[in-house]
Amino acid sequence: TTLKLGMIPADGIGKEVLPAAQHVLQALGSSLPKLEFVPLLAGWEEFQRNGKALPDETVRCLKESCDAAMFGSVSSPSHKVAGYSSPIVALRKHLDLYANIRPVTSVPGLPGPRVNMVIVRENTECLYIKREELQTAADGTRIAFATRQISETASTRIGKMAFELALTRGKERETARNNGQEVLWKGKPKVTIVHKSNVLSVTDGLFRESVRAVKEGAAGRYDGIDMEEQLVDSMVYRMFREPEIFDVAVAPNLYGDIISDGAAALVGSLGLVPSINAGDSFIMGEPVHGSAPDIEGKNIANPIASIRSAALMLSSLGYIEQAAKINIAVDAVLAEGTYLTPDLGGKSSTTDVTEAILKKL
Ligand code: NAI
Ligand code: MG
Repeated sequence: TTLKLGMIPADGIGKEVLPAAQHVLQALGSSLPKLEFVPLLAGWEEFQRNGKALPDETVRCLKESCDAAMFGSVSSPSHKVAGYSSPIVALRKHLDLYANIRPVTSVPGLPGPRVNMVIVRENTECLYIKREELQTAADGTRIAFATRQISETASTRIGKMAFELALTRGKERETARNNGQEVLWKGKPKVTIVHKSNVLSVTDGLFRESVRAVKEGAAGRYDGIDMEEQLVDSMVYRMFREPEIFDVAVAPNLYGDIISDGAAALVGSLGLVPSINAGDSFIMGEPVHGSAPDIEGKNIANPIASIRSAALMLSSLGYIEQAAKINIAVDAVLAEGTYLTPDLGGKSSTTDVTEAILKKL
């Protein structure tokens, strides 16, 4: 059999870090089915060339012939451009990738707080439905509105994803403990629901209720999991004060986006944090960071977020040992500290770090 992977580098450092992930996947050799990489177009540059940020051919190929995909990063302009909308947001919709799973893990041996949490971000609605409207106020000045959609269906399925992940993580910790490994999280698995329903009682209220109902309606399946809530602002505060108290955090789209960049700062760099976009039938790996225009084209972007995203993609496809191999190689390079990109205080290039990881593999 072959594993056919759609590769969408898109813009900026996406074009530097995605090839690194591809090399690492290739280096796993015969421990995986034969890999076939299909380069696919998307992004701001593609929009400027051909007027479409997400070509139909890219979507068609992903839907009809790929087993999974990897996305780099896109440069979305911060002003409105006629005809342009973000291809990553569109891809998540087209492929029904309703969950964005973002593990944030500190590296053993490096300074800083100990973190081992995963943020489960709803990926299809909230303010990302982009229903915005500009009107003229009574006094003639402009006034803008945005519609925020929170549905019971989307909140319930993301809630279910969070509880299932908490179960899996709990089992993994038990196995690790039984093997004599040190485990950071000592308590029962825990799901923290992030919201702001003290202010947005209708939208965030529905999110909160729907996620709570997942546990209550599961006929005891999630009895071993603690459930708590955190208003999004105090979530940020507590994440910075005592990040070790979090296991799985589940959040609506925008809060999830914001707290995951914040959590990335805790572990040293956005360049370390991976994610997968997941639905019931497709997986797309994607580093959490953007296209980093301040460092693009210099070969100094940290490839680790992208490489770890490849590992995360593999493990959700069931290639758990192969994913573990990648993560062990990455941790070894980080712990040694000889080859680090500038975001981690080092002087190495993207290619040096990739080479170092390939050697460990
Ligand atoms: P960003 O994530 O691109 O960069 C933020 C900061 O982190 C920058 O200083 C950058 O140099 C640094 N950084 C990010 N990734 C790094 C890596 N791998 N190695 C070393 N340093 C790294 O966010 P920013 O600057 O707010 O956005 C830039 C562009 O990226 C915008 O056009 C934005 O729309 C887009 N973006 C795209 C995303 C995606 O493709 N999913 C996600 C976030 C932003
Ligand atoms: Mg973000």
